[in-house]
Amino acid sequence: MTRVLGIETSCDETAAAVLEDGTQVLSDVVASQADLHARYGGVFPEVASREHIKTIYAVVDQAIKDAHLSIPELDAIAVTRGPGLAGSLVVGMNMAKGLSLASGVPLVGINHLEGHLYSAWIPQENPEYREPQFPVIALIVSGGHSSLILMQDHLTYTQLGRTLDDAAGEAFDKVARLLNLPYPGGPSIQKAAENGNGQAFQFPRAWLEGSWDFSFSGLKTAVLRTLQELHADGRPVLVENLAASFQAAVVDVLCQKTLAAARQFHACSIVVAGGVSANRALRKAFLDQKEFPVHIPPLKLCTDNAVMIATAGHYRFLHGFRDDLSMDVLPNWPLVSMSQK
Ligand code: KG4
Ligand code: ZN
Repeated sequence: MTRVLGIETSCDETAAAVLEDGTQVLSDVVASQADLHARYGGVFPEVASREHIKTIYAVVDQAIKDAHLSIPELDAIAVTRGPGLAGSLVVGMNMAKGLSLASGVPLVGINHLEGHLYSAWIPQENPEYREPQFPVIALIVSGGHSSLILMQDHLTYTQLGRTLDDAAGEAFDKVARLLNLPYPGGPSIQKAAENGNGQAFQFPRAWLEGSWDFSFSGLKTAVLRTLQELHADGRPVLVENLAASFQAAVVDVLCQKTLAAARQFHACSIVVAGGVSANRALRKAFLDQKEFPVHIPPLKLCTDNAVMIATAGHYRFLHGFRDDLSMDVLPNWPLVSMSQK
């Protein structure tokens, strides 16, 4: 039996969780700073790190208490090492090191994107749950990343494509700002889009034929230009239609390119993870197709959390990975460098 404590502080969520055998969630605590950052329209790095400092102890303490364990009963402490905001990562890292130093429980550094991927390996009491089967094509779409990854086995990653400019979540956040919708942009656009017509505007899709990369900056510019034209012509600005048409364009490209990669690499499963995988239209697009089994984490595990870090920690621990007290944070850590093969 393994019991792993996960700690996550890469951006604006302070989170800790304890997992048994990589599948049983014994505790799951998340303190979000989203309300605090909303007034800045985005994450303010210095505010984020200072908030993590204030919250981290209480969050970890709660996770340990909820799990009815004491620190020495843990087998490993998994902590997000990067990518993310340096000042935020440091807070979780130092907490993990302090606990490890005091208890002798080994440390395992986790790549945040690896955590998002491994959220697809958590059954969450779903009786219909099946583990993703390799080869897996994984789409990671978050505020900082849009990547298409091929996994031939556990902990083995080949990056097929990435965004050339804005990440998918970043595009949602920026377009929300253009449309005067509140931060974080993804949920606001989703809400507005529910009352809109996704066919109202034919926004461009950057297919980037011959490459698995993504690009969303042209789409963002198209929304801006349409908005300016509507204003100039004195026509009404139907935010709902703009939001729905923008969302339709993003979902179209993400879904079609992922399916094409799954065909090309003879995938047995598709995994969709990261904050944007909470998007209802994106989930529907993937679940409506019947070509490949698709694994999308429950909503709670799509955005940043520590359960996913503990799960990735469980697999790394089982594969013999350990880190020492000199472990540094890596704000720009590419996922592929974690690959075993
Ligand atoms: O994974 P995450 O919590 O943090 C990062 O690792 O970046 O992702 C946050 C991103 C934000 O850009 C947010 O707008 C987006 O995920 N997001 C969504 C939705 N919920 C969160 N985007 C679209 N639709 C949603 N429902
Ligand atoms: Zn994330």
